[in-house]
Amino acid sequence: MPEFSVVVPAYRERENVPALLRALDRALSGLDWETIIVVDDALDGTEELVRAAAQQDRRVRCLHRIGRQGLASACIEGMLASSAPYLAVMDADLQHDETLLPKLLDAARSHGADIVVASRYMPGGSTGELASDRVWISRLASTLSRVLCQGLTDPMSGFFVVRRTFLERVVRRLYGRGFKILLDMIAAARGEVSLQELPYRMRSRERGESKLGARVVAEFFMLILYHVFGRMLPGRFFLFAAVGTTGIGVHLGVLWLMFAGSGNFLVSQAVATWAAMTSNFFLNNAVTYGDQRLSGRKIVRGLLSFYAACGIGALINLALADWLFINSLPYWIAGLTGALVAALWNFFTTASFTWGGSTAGKR
Ligand code: GDD
Ligand code: MN
Repeated sequence: MPEFSVVVPAYRERENVPALLRALDRALSGLDWETIIVVDDALDGTEELVRAAAQQDRRVRCLHRIGRQGLASACIEGMLASSAPYLAVMDADLQHDETLLPKLLDAARSHGADIVVASRYMPGGSTGELASDRVWISRLASTLSRVLCQGLTDPMSGFFVVRRTFLERVVRRLYGRGFKILLDMIAAARGEVSLQELPYRMRSRERGESKLGARVVAEFFMLILYHVFGRMLPGRFFLFAAVGTTGIGVHLGVLWLMFAGSGNFLVSQAVATWAAMTSNFFLNNAVTYGDQRLSGRKIVRGLLSFYAACGIGALINLALADWLFINSLPYWIAGLTGALVAALWNFFTTASFTWGGSTAGKR
């Protein structure tokens, strides 16, 4: 068994893999290492390339996942596929400076840190030519994530070395979705982690495309909520609730338009309710359940079950709020409790009836 496994998540990185393997070979000479490239199936030939390299060089391994996606889960499964005492995670697109790897490993070995992070935001580091809006988002996210881990300059880094005993200690508490595996591990350690950082200059991506999209940003917020609120509620609930809040806007907007036009309140209210439920359904399908989105004919069935579940939710809301109000609770507590219980009802019933499956989803 090698001492050091470099786990590399790769999705559509055919153009970067050969240069990456050469760079690792150069940077890690003299060390006892292997690399595990976790390729999610995209039929673009990345896995064939990695497997061909693995047939020439026993230090190269390919972990090929079918029907799965997600940077964080790729890193976790790659790390679990190794038995080495020290693990690194780095991107396949050559943005992370591989020449830092021996220093990260050395810091973990000699200073006993659980995680040694390669940081862009400490003296000597830089984001290179990262687009300025990305720097802005990255800094904002770093500020937010201080809730979970103080004292790191770059908690959003995707480049680090971790001790396997530490991973084993936290792996069952990980959120495991989205992009932020480092933040996830640190939050899961609940303060029991020793950290160290070393600076590096991030390079810009020359080939292929970044996979950071809206869903990744949403997952970031879910990750924070997941760790802040423990596992009382699935992270997905908070996205569902956020979508519900936009539904209030849709409802009021349609109500206003219809009522101004027709003057008939009851009809306007009915149409507004229908519009809000419909927009909630499509937003939830795109965002909250973006990873198991319904499509084609399944949309019709899904939409009808969503109407049914939310209709019952509305009745529960009315009945409960009315009962609390009659029992002399202040009107706003009665109203809020009704709405909250209905939101939970809607969430759990649509999770199984509309998007059929677990609230945890497919990682
Ligand atoms: N297997 C697999 N599956 N790999 C993935 C997936 C996936 O679903 N999504 C992305 N990757 C791989 C990419 O192929 C790349 O090697 C790496 O994960 C990072 O993806 P990018 O799309 O290049 O992300 P980025 O450059 O915007 O952000 C990266 O760098 C930041 C700075 O260190 C990420 O590592 C961020 O987490 C990090 O903050
Ligand atoms: Mn990148």
